[in-house]
Amino acid sequence: MARIPRETIDEIRERVDIVSVVQKHVSLNRRGKSYKGLCPFHQEKSPSFHVIPDKGIFHCFGCQTGGDAFKFLMLLEGLSFIEAVKELAGSVGITIEEKELTPEQMRNLKQRATSYDVLAAASEFFRSMLWTRPEGAKARSYIHERSLDESTAQDAGLGFAPDAWSQLSDHLHGLGYAEQLVGDVGLSKSREGRSGSYDTFRNRLVFPIRDERGRVIGFGGRLLDGEGPKYLNSPETSLYDKSRVLYGLYEARSAIQQKKRIIVVEGYMDVLAMRQAGFGESVATCGTALTPQHMTKLRRLADRAIVLFDSDAAGMRAAEKSLPMFVEADIQPWRLDLPDAKDPDEFLVAHGPEAMEKALESPPPLYEWLLDRRVADGNYSSAGIAQLLDELTPLLLKLPPSMRALTAQKLRIREDILVDRLRKAPTQPEQRPQAPARVGWRPTQEIVHVLWLLVHRYDHVADLVQRAPPTLLDEHSPVIPVIARLVSGEPVAAVLQDTEDPGVQRTLSAIVGRAELYDVAHAAAGMLTMVDRLSRRRRQAAIEALTRASQKAAEAQDMEAFRTASTERIRQKERETLLEAALARGDAEVTMQLIAEALSPSTD
Ligand code: UTP
Ligand code: MN
Repeated sequence: MARIPRETIDEIRERVDIVSVVQKHVSLNRRGKSYKGLCPFHQEKSPSFHVIPDKGIFHCFGCQTGGDAFKFLMLLEGLSFIEAVKELAGSVGITIEEKELTPEQMRNLKQRATSYDVLAAASEFFRSMLWTRPEGAKARSYIHERSLDESTAQDAGLGFAPDAWSQLSDHLHGLGYAEQLVGDVGLSKSREGRSGSYDTFRNRLVFPIRDERGRVIGFGGRLLDGEGPKYLNSPETSLYDKSRVLYGLYEARSAIQQKKRIIVVEGYMDVLAMRQAGFGESVATCGTALTPQHMTKLRRLADRAIVLFDSDAAGMRAAEKSLPMFVEADIQPWRLDLPDAKDPDEFLVAHGPEAMEKALESPPPLYEWLLDRRVADGNYSSAGIAQLLDELTPLLLKLPPSMRALTAQKLRIREDILVDRLRKAPTQPEQRPQAPARVGWRPTQEIVHVLWLLVHRYDHVADLVQRAPPTLLDEHSPVIPVIARLVSGEPVAAVLQDTEDPGVQRTLSAIVGRAELYDVAHAAAGMLTMVDRLSRRRRQAAIEALTRASQKAAEAQDMEAFRTASTERIRQKERETLLEAALARGDAEVTMQLIAEALSPSTD
């Protein structure tokens, strides 16, 4: 089992504020006692993702994903349970005393930790080269030339990779990191056909690239002088996947949430120049095109993006290509063209932040910008228009209807013709979120109510459940341990954590987020009703069995058996009447006693 004591885990869960854990990744709005936002686990347009701080739980009614703060980090950041626990332990000031690890666990843990460690150590090395060494002087003056303040550069963790073949590797080996590991994380390359390796980044200004949790996972390095590509990036590694990572996202998160918009630029320098100028909501890809995975990350934080790519042909093409992805991800994209500047960095250096602010006020929608470009191409032959409409149709189907009029107007065709064309377009199957396969146990309504009452009205119903006959739930075995633990007073988040059956998990986490079923005054009566319903089928079966037995005995003229069966049957029917009356009075004591009698084996 867990290497961390159970009590410690519970303690951490208790202290952690799940809202702030989730809020690092998802914009949430308060709704009474819970918070709502767009689910980070599936694509959706209206929020069905709930966080319930009282219970320490999240749940999405769209894709049925749910759980506690640990589960959230496991799913969203790909952490193991232990890693999630440790992550949160630190944040609430709990130190974890670990029990013995198996050698295998030890190896895995070490491997992951050291990959991050070695990258952090490298980043520190680059940083000290930049700021404290004579070799770093030219990089420092380069930073200055590029109009980056020292504080911007320092906050971004910039560094300098010296012009040497193995200074970094030697340093890292000296710290105890193996040659293999340094290579695995992309910091050194092996020499072709010879033994030994050399540093990947040499004579470059180095930009550390962080993951969403702020850990360095790779680097981009800008050439300062001499031969070579302008930028060199870390190769893809197990930690660094270009199609997912966005440079600056870690630092940009709060600005994005505050300003409710994202600015996507092309280069590392652009991100820093924008941040320095007060546009901290800027991010960039690491030298690749935007991907749907990037969109998913962005969509969690805002639903508006401004595409601020370079004004060259490549930047235009990239902007065009991004449009369908933005539309698909339900992010509204705008496109800003900066006059007389190659990129935002240049623009800021030349014109300053106010001019940028002004330019950002009214960019055209990316779609409109694309239309204008197409129209400027000037292909008005009917074949040209038809081809263009083919390209635009899938977009128009997803864009607001106002874009139809605009399109018709710009293409100089009639709107009704356009609309007609859209109507006839083969409708693509709406990209529905892949609801997870409904596996595992499925609840009955009664069980849902029982669970809800235990979770939300514990004080009013727990002792009732405790007094219910033990065989009450015989037909619902997967949920028995859950109910037992809830009755014994364990917090629902803890129970959820240990529950294996996905059906039980789903049900329980949905219940936590479910709106009021019973107010306090009706909680106990509600529970009694459920106990009644849960036992009714078996009670009635018993009566029917006795009816059959007495009929049989009558046919066989077995008066003795007939009398026993019918007496018992009458007794049971009387008990049902009493039960009904007790229920109606809300007499818990008597109700429970009668139900217990009815379910006890002697009457079967
Ligand atoms: P740019 O050449 O536009 O970079 O490439 P920049 O940031 O404006 O560079 P400066 O201002 O001249 O320093 C944009 C991005 O494309 C990637 C980098 O991620 C860069 O930030 N790139 C560019 C490469 O990966 N390799 C290259 O050789 C050039
Ligand atoms: Mn530039």
